Amino acid sequence: MKLERVLQYAQTLLKASIQEGDIAVDATAGNGHDTLFLANLVGDSGYVYAFDVQKQAVDATLNRLLDNALEHRALVLKDGHENVAKYVTKPVGAAIFNLGYLPGSDHSVITKPNTTTQAIESLLTLLKIGGMIILVIYHGHEGGKEERDEVIQFVSNLPQKYIHVLRYEFLNQKNDPPFIIALEKVKELPVSE
Ligand SMILES: C[S@@+](CC[C@H](N)C(=O)[O-])C[C@H]1O[C@@H](n2cnc3c(N)ncnc32)[C@H](O)[C@@H]1O
Repeated sequence: MKLERVLQYAQTLLKASIQEGDIAVDATAGNGHDTLFLANLVGDSGYVYAFDVQKQAVDATLNRLLDNALEHRALVLKDGHENVAKYVTKPVGAAIFNLGYLPGSDHSVITKPNTTTQAIESLLTLLKIGGMIILVIYHGHEGGKEERDEVIQFVSNLPQKYIHVLRYEFLNQKNDPPFIIALEKVKELPVSE
């Protein structure tokens, strides 16, 4: 047996948590790799909502879906993932975030701690029981460590009765390799007043 690499493991978790007919969310569409992966998993009876704040990313994601004739399975939104609850109202099977900047693009447009934690909070409410949020945390860029630390603090304080929180990380790799945080909803969260 080989330990799965980080990106491979993220896909394994998505495959395990998404069933045909599910709603899935790509919170950081970028070049659309995860959106396409999700569109394949949800089937024709499911649906993917993909978010990105950059037009370049929205266009790249739409083109990738079109190239694979799967554009009918996804809505690609030029909006921040912190607004997910405006668009998604049905229970979600899984959501994925790739934090950081879009490779090959403007490195100053990065995901930010406040909006990332806001989106996680909204998605935790939307998740169905057994649903999962997967965060691939890149932290080598400027601003990356601040976001990593705030996200870790936020998820570490989630109540274990409702959310199981996993960290999957290779500890002896150089140059700030990405790692995974996975959140599994195991029980409906109490309604806050
Ligand atoms: C690491 S890239 C995503 C890579 C992508 N998963 C792929 O397959 O290519 C991070 C993306 O998050 C986007 N982003 C930054 N802030 C955002 C926000 N508030 N909501 C949604 N996307 C955001 C960036 O524009 C960038 O494209």
